[in-house]
Amino acid sequence: MRRTLSLLVALASTLSVATAGVIPRHGPTPVVFYHGMGDSAHSKGMQELFASISELSPDIFIHSISLAESESDDQRAGFFGNVNQQIETVCNQLRDIPELQHGFNAVGFSQGGQFLRAYVQRCNNPPIKTLVTVGSQHGGVSDIPGCIKDDASCRLMRSIARAGVYSGYVRDHVIQAQYYKDPKNLETYLAKSIFLPDINNELDIKNATYARNLADLERLVMFMFTEDVTVKPKETAWFGFEDEEGNPISLFEQDLYKEDWLGLKRMNKRGKLIFDTLEGEHMQISLEDFTEKITLPYLLDLDIAPRTGPCHPLKDQTEEVLEFTLDQEVL
Ligand SMILES: *[C@@H]1O[C@H](CO)[C@@H](O)[C@H](O)[C@H]1NC(C)=O
Repeated sequence: MRRTLSLLVALASTLSVATAGVIPRHGPTPVVFYHGMGDSAHSKGMQELFASISELSPDIFIHSISLAESESDDQRAGFFGNVNQQIETVCNQLRDIPELQHGFNAVGFSQGGQFLRAYVQRCNNPPIKTLVTVGSQHGGVSDIPGCIKDDASCRLMRSIARAGVYSGYVRDHVIQAQYYKDPKNLETYLAKSIFLPDINNELDIKNATYARNLADLERLVMFMFTEDVTVKPKETAWFGFEDEEGNPISLFEQDLYKEDWLGLKRMNKRGKLIFDTLEGEHMQISLEDFTEKITLPYLLDLDIAPRTGPCHPLKDQTEEVLEFTLDQEVL
Protein backbone atom coordinates (compact mmCIF):
# COMPACT_ATOMS: atom_id res chain seq x y z
CA MET A 1 0.00 0.00 0.00
CA ARG A 2 2.72 2.42 1.03
CA ARG A 3 4.61 1.52 -2.07
CA THR A 4 1.67 2.34 -4.30
CA LEU A 5 1.14 5.62 -2.54
CA SER A 6 4.66 6.85 -2.97
CA LEU A 7 4.60 5.78 -6.58
CA LEU A 8 1.52 7.88 -7.12
CA VAL A 9 3.12 10.85 -5.47
CA ALA A 10 6.14 10.47 -7.65
CA LEU A 11 3.99 10.24 -10.73
CA ALA A 12 1.94 13.26 -9.77
CA SER A 13 5.00 15.39 -9.28
CA THR A 14 6.47 14.29 -12.58
CA LEU A 15 3.27 15.32 -14.30
CA SER A 16 3.14 18.77 -12.80
CA VAL A 17 6.78 19.34 -13.62
CA ALA A 18 5.99 18.52 -17.21
CA THR A 19 2.93 20.74 -17.36
CA ALA A 20 3.77 23.76 -15.23
CA GLY A 21 7.53 23.74 -15.51
CA VAL A 22 7.90 24.13 -11.75
CA ILE A 23 8.70 21.69 -9.04
CA PRO A 24 5.79 21.52 -6.59
CA ARG A 25 6.48 21.97 -2.91
CA HIS A 26 6.37 18.56 -1.30
CA GLY A 27 8.50 16.62 1.06
CA PRO A 28 10.88 18.01 3.64
CA THR A 29 12.16 21.59 3.42
CA PRO A 30 15.59 21.58 1.75
CA VAL A 31 18.67 22.64 3.67
CA VAL A 32 21.64 24.69 2.52
CA PHE A 33 24.95 24.71 4.35
CA TYR A 34 27.74 27.27 4.20
CA HIS A 35 30.98 25.92 5.64
CA GLY A 36 33.34 27.83 7.90
CA MET A 37 36.88 29.17 7.57
CA GLY A 38 39.42 26.41 6.89
CA ASP A 39 36.71 23.94 5.88
CA SER A 40 35.23 23.12 2.48
CA ALA A 41 31.79 22.24 1.14
CA HIS A 42 32.25 18.48 1.01
CA SER A 43 34.92 17.79 3.62
CA LYS A 44 34.73 14.57 5.61
CA GLY A 45 33.12 16.35 8.56
CA MET A 46 30.51 18.02 6.38
CA GLN A 47 29.66 14.73 4.67
CA GLU A 48 29.21 12.97 7.99
CA LEU A 49 26.89 15.73 9.03
CA PHE A 50 24.81 15.48 5.86
CA ALA A 51 24.60 11.70 6.32
CA SER A 52 23.30 12.16 9.85
CA ILE A 53 20.50 14.38 8.55
CA SER A 54 19.62 12.11 5.62
CA GLU A 55 19.40 9.21 8.03
CA LEU A 56 16.60 10.99 9.88
CA SER A 57 14.97 12.38 6.74
CA PRO A 58 15.91 10.26 3.70
CA ASP A 59 14.16 12.52 1.16
CA ILE A 60 15.69 15.77 2.32
CA PHE A 61 17.54 17.82 -0.30
CA ILE A 62 20.86 19.14 0.97
CA HIS A 63 23.05 21.63 -0.82
CA SER A 64 26.48 22.67 0.39
CA ILE A 65 27.71 26.01 -0.92
CA SER A 66 31.03 25.79 -2.72
CA LEU A 67 32.92 28.61 -4.38
CA ALA A 68 35.23 26.51 -6.49
CA GLU A 69 35.45 23.26 -8.43
CA SER A 70 38.01 21.66 -6.19
CA GLU A 71 37.87 21.22 -2.44
CA SER A 72 41.25 22.91 -1.97
CA ASP A 73 40.23 25.96 -4.02
CA ASP A 74 36.96 26.14 -2.10
CA GLN A 75 38.89 26.03 1.16
CA ARG A 76 41.22 28.80 -0.06
CA ALA A 77 38.21 30.95 -1.00
CA GLY A 78 37.42 31.04 2.71
CA PHE A 79 40.63 33.02 3.25
CA PHE A 80 41.24 34.93 0.04
CA GLY A 81 38.80 36.82 -2.10
CA ASN A 82 36.22 39.56 -2.00
CA VAL A 83 33.21 38.69 0.17
CA ASN A 84 30.86 40.91 -1.84
CA GLN A 85 31.72 39.04 -5.02
CA GLN A 86 31.44 35.72 -3.20
CA ILE A 87 27.94 36.57 -1.95
CA GLU A 88 26.96 37.43 -5.52
CA THR A 89 28.23 34.03 -6.65
CA VAL A 90 26.18 32.40 -3.89
CA CYS A 91 23.08 34.34 -4.98
CA ASN A 92 23.45 33.05 -8.53
CA GLN A 93 24.26 29.54 -7.37
CA LEU A 94 21.20 29.19 -5.13
CA ARG A 95 18.86 30.89 -7.60
CA ASP A 96 19.66 28.24 -10.19
CA ILE A 97 18.89 25.19 -8.05
CA PRO A 98 15.31 24.03 -8.86
CA GLU A 99 14.92 22.11 -5.59
CA LEU A 100 15.32 25.31 -3.59
CA GLN A 101 12.79 27.42 -5.41
CA HIS A 102 10.11 27.25 -2.70
CA GLY A 103 12.52 28.31 0.01
CA PHE A 104 14.84 26.44 2.33
CA ASN A 105 16.39 26.37 5.77
CA ALA A 106 20.05 27.23 6.06
CA VAL A 107 22.95 26.64 8.41
CA GLY A 108 26.06 28.83 8.34
CA PHE A 109 29.13 27.70 10.22
CA SER A 110 31.36 30.43 11.59
CA GLN A 111 31.89 33.07 8.86
CA GLY A 112 29.41 31.17 6.65
CA GLY A 113 26.76 32.46 9.07
CA GLN A 114 27.24 36.15 8.38
CA PHE A 115 27.67 35.37 4.67
CA LEU A 116 24.27 33.64 4.60
CA ARG A 117 22.82 36.63 6.44
CA ALA A 118 24.24 38.81 3.66
CA TYR A 119 22.56 36.49 1.15
CA VAL A 120 19.23 37.09 2.90
CA GLN A 121 19.70 40.84 3.03
CA ARG A 122 20.95 41.30 -0.53
CA CYS A 123 19.18 38.56 -2.51
CA ASN A 124 17.00 36.08 -0.61
CA ASN A 125 15.73 34.61 -3.85
CA PRO A 126 14.81 31.87 -3.17
CA PRO A 127 14.10 32.82 0.44
CA ILE A 128 15.54 31.33 3.60
CA LYS A 129 12.95 30.28 6.18
CA THR A 130 15.02 29.54 9.27
CA LEU A 131 18.63 30.68 9.34
CA VAL A 132 20.85 28.98 11.91
CA THR A 133 24.27 30.51 12.48
CA VAL A 134 26.87 28.62 14.48
CA GLY A 135 29.71 30.57 16.10
CA SER A 136 29.40 33.33 13.49
CA GLN A 137 30.88 36.83 13.57
CA HIS A 138 27.79 38.99 13.13
CA GLY A 139 29.21 41.80 15.22
CA GLY A 140 32.69 41.66 13.67
CA VAL A 141 35.95 40.52 15.25
CA SER A 142 38.36 42.67 17.26
CA ASP A 143 41.27 40.44 16.24
CA ILE A 144 41.98 38.37 13.15
CA PRO A 145 40.73 34.84 13.99
CA GLY A 146 43.24 32.20 15.04
CA CYS A 147 43.83 29.05 13.03
CA ILE A 148 42.05 26.01 14.39
CA LYS A 149 44.37 23.48 12.81
CA ASP A 150 47.81 23.86 11.33
CA ASP A 151 46.77 25.26 8.01
CA ALA A 152 49.05 26.93 5.46
CA SER A 153 46.32 29.14 3.94
CA CYS A 154 45.31 30.30 7.39
CA ARG A 155 48.89 31.13 8.40
CA LEU A 156 49.36 33.06 5.16
CA MET A 157 46.11 34.92 5.72
CA ARG A 158 47.23 35.95 9.22
CA SER A 159 50.62 37.16 8.09
CA ILE A 160 49.16 39.22 5.24
CA ALA A 161 46.43 40.64 7.50
CA ARG A 162 49.12 41.89 9.88
CA ALA A 163 50.26 44.31 7.16
CA GLY A 164 47.19 46.40 7.95
CA VAL A 165 43.64 45.14 7.66
CA TYR A 166 42.22 48.32 6.17
CA SER A 167 44.99 48.90 3.66
CA GLY A 168 44.01 48.56 -0.01
CA TYR A 169 45.28 45.12 -0.89
CA VAL A 170 44.41 43.36 2.35
CA ARG A 171 40.95 44.84 2.68
CA ASP A 172 39.99 43.73 -0.83
CA HIS A 173 41.62 40.31 -0.79
CA VAL A 174 41.63 38.86 2.74
CA ILE A 175 38.23 37.57 3.77
CA GLN A 176 38.78 37.90 7.52
CA ALA A 177 39.82 41.56 7.14
CA GLN A 178 36.39 42.21 5.65
CA TYR A 179 34.63 41.51 8.95
CA TYR A 180 37.37 42.86 11.20
CA LYS A 181 36.18 45.79 13.32
CA ASP A 182 38.86 47.74 15.15
CA PRO A 183 37.30 48.88 18.45
CA LYS A 184 40.02 51.55 18.75
CA ASN A 185 39.45 52.91 15.28
CA LEU A 186 35.81 52.74 14.32
CA GLU A 187 36.09 55.72 11.98
CA THR A 188 38.58 53.96 9.73
CA TYR A 189 36.52 50.78 9.93
CA LEU A 190 33.41 52.62 8.73
CA ALA A 191 35.31 54.44 6.01
CA LYS A 192 37.39 51.56 4.68
CA SER A 193 35.90 48.16 5.40
CA ILE A 194 34.15 46.81 2.32
CA PHE A 195 31.73 44.37 3.93
CA LEU A 196 30.65 44.47 7.55
CA PRO A 197 29.64 48.16 7.92
CA ASP A 198 27.41 47.76 4.88
CA ILE A 199 25.83 44.47 5.86
CA ASN A 200 25.21 45.70 9.41
CA ASN A 201 23.66 48.94 8.10
CA GLU A 202 26.18 50.99 10.08
CA LEU A 203 26.78 53.50 7.29
CA ASP A 204 24.98 56.85 7.13
CA ILE A 205 22.60 55.70 4.43
CA LYS A 206 20.63 52.71 5.70
CA ASN A 207 19.39 50.13 3.26
CA ALA A 208 15.73 49.42 4.05
CA THR A 209 15.80 46.28 1.89
CA TYR A 210 18.33 44.72 4.26
CA ALA A 211 16.04 45.13 7.25
CA ARG A 212 12.95 44.04 5.36
CA ASN A 213 14.56 40.89 3.96
CA LEU A 214 16.06 39.89 7.29
CA ALA A 215 12.74 40.39 9.09
CA ASP A 216 11.15 38.07 6.53
CA LEU A 217 13.00 35.14 8.08
CA GLU A 218 10.82 32.86 10.14
CA ARG A 219 13.65 32.60 12.67
CA LEU A 220 17.22 33.70 13.09
CA VAL A 221 18.88 31.24 15.42
CA MET A 222 22.32 32.21 16.72
CA PHE A 223 24.55 29.77 18.56
CA MET A 224 27.58 30.97 20.54
CA PHE A 225 30.36 28.63 21.67
CA THR A 226 30.79 29.05 25.43
CA GLU A 227 34.59 28.55 25.39
CA ASP A 228 35.36 30.18 22.04
CA VAL A 229 38.89 31.62 21.98
CA THR A 230 39.38 31.51 18.20
CA VAL A 231 36.92 34.33 17.62
CA LYS A 232 37.15 37.56 19.62
CA PRO A 233 34.88 38.47 21.24
CA LYS A 234 32.90 35.24 21.27
CA GLU A 235 29.70 37.26 21.85
CA THR A 236 29.98 38.38 18.21
CA ALA A 237 27.97 35.21 17.54
CA TRP A 238 25.04 37.15 19.11
CA PHE A 239 25.96 40.46 17.44
CA GLY A 240 27.93 41.46 20.53
CA PHE A 241 31.15 43.45 20.38
CA GLU A 242 33.54 45.20 22.75
CA ASP A 243 34.70 48.74 23.52
CA GLU A 244 38.27 50.09 23.40
CA GLU A 245 39.04 48.62 26.81
CA GLY A 246 37.68 45.23 25.87
CA ASN A 247 34.45 45.54 27.86
CA PRO A 248 31.60 43.62 26.25
CA ILE A 249 28.82 45.49 24.43
CA SER A 250 25.70 43.43 23.88
CA LEU A 251 23.49 43.78 20.84
CA PHE A 252 20.86 45.45 23.00
CA GLU A 253 23.20 48.29 23.96
CA GLN A 254 23.99 49.18 20.35
CA ASP A 255 22.20 51.65 18.07
CA LEU A 256 22.11 48.81 15.56
CA TYR A 257 19.43 47.35 17.81
CA LYS A 258 17.99 50.40 19.52
CA GLU A 259 17.41 52.24 16.24
CA ASP A 260 16.59 48.96 14.51
CA TRP A 261 18.94 49.40 11.56
CA LEU A 262 18.57 45.74 10.58
CA GLY A 263 15.07 44.89 11.76
CA LEU A 264 16.45 42.85 14.67
CA LYS A 265 14.31 44.68 17.23
CA ARG A 266 11.17 44.02 15.21
CA MET A 267 12.20 40.38 14.86
CA ASN A 268 12.82 40.03 18.56
CA LYS A 269 9.40 41.39 19.42
CA ARG A 270 7.87 38.73 17.21
CA GLY A 271 9.91 35.98 18.85
CA LYS A 272 12.00 35.45 15.71
CA LEU A 273 15.43 35.80 17.36
CA ILE A 274 16.82 32.83 19.21
CA PHE A 275 20.06 33.11 21.20
CA ASP A 276 21.52 29.80 22.26
CA THR A 277 24.86 28.32 23.27
CA LEU A 278 26.93 25.27 22.46
CA GLU A 279 29.43 24.03 25.03
CA GLY A 280 33.06 24.20 24.03
CA GLU A 281 35.64 25.93 21.81
CA HIS A 282 34.95 27.32 18.33
CA MET A 283 33.26 24.78 16.03
CA GLN A 284 33.81 21.89 18.45
CA ILE A 285 30.40 20.37 17.98
CA SER A 286 29.58 16.68 18.04
CA LEU A 287 27.14 15.07 15.63
CA GLU A 288 24.93 14.18 18.60
CA ASP A 289 24.73 17.80 19.72
CA PHE A 290 24.12 18.99 16.20
CA THR A 291 21.23 16.56 15.81
CA GLU A 292 19.69 17.45 19.14
CA LYS A 293 20.18 21.22 19.09
CA ILE A 294 19.91 22.00 15.36
CA THR A 295 18.66 19.20 13.09
CA LEU A 296 15.64 18.14 15.13
CA PRO A 297 14.31 21.52 16.21
CA TYR A 298 15.16 23.64 13.17
CA LEU A 299 15.78 21.55 10.05
CA LEU A 300 13.20 18.80 10.08
CA ASP A 301 10.05 20.89 10.46
CA LEU A 302 9.17 19.10 13.66
CA ASP A 303 8.58 22.45 15.27
CA ILE A 304 9.53 21.34 18.72
CA ALA A 305 11.77 24.33 19.28
CA PRO A 306 10.61 26.62 22.02
CA ARG A 307 8.88 29.64 20.50
CA THR A 308 8.63 32.14 23.25
CA GLY A 309 8.29 35.88 23.18
CA PRO A 310 11.16 38.35 22.99
CA CYS A 311 14.36 36.85 24.22
CA HIS A 312 17.03 38.46 26.30
CA PRO A 313 20.13 36.44 26.99
CA LEU A 314 21.68 38.82 29.53
CA LYS A 315 19.25 38.53 32.37
CA ASP A 316 21.45 40.41 34.82
CA GLN A 317 20.81 43.67 32.99
CA THR A 318 17.62 44.46 34.80
CA GLU A 319 17.02 47.72 32.98
CA GLU A 320 16.94 46.02 29.62
CA VAL A 321 14.63 43.31 30.85
CA LEU A 322 12.28 45.99 32.18
CA GLU A 323 12.32 47.74 28.84
CA PHE A 324 11.37 44.50 27.17
CA THR A 325 8.51 43.84 29.55
CA LEU A 326 7.17 47.28 28.77
CA ASP A 327 7.52 46.75 25.04
CA GLN A 328 5.61 43.53 25.29
CA GLU A 329 2.72 45.23 27.03
CA VAL A 330 2.51 47.76 24.24
CA LEU A 331 2.17 44.92 21.76
C1 LIG B 1 19.98 48.05 -0.94
O1 LIG B 1 20.26 46.69 -1.16
C2 LIG B 1 19.65 46.15 -2.32
C3 LIG B 1 19.95 44.68 -2.31
O2 LIG B 1 21.33 44.43 -2.30
C4 LIG B 1 20.21 46.86 -3.54
O3 LIG B 1 19.61 46.35 -4.69
C5 LIG B 1 19.98 48.35 -3.41
O4 LIG B 1 20.60 49.03 -4.48
C6 LIG B 1 20.50 48.88 -2.09
N1 LIG B 1 20.09 50.26 -1.90
C7 LIG B 1 20.92 51.21 -1.52
C8 LIG B 1 20.32 52.54 -1.28
O5 LIG B 1 22.11 51.02 -1.37
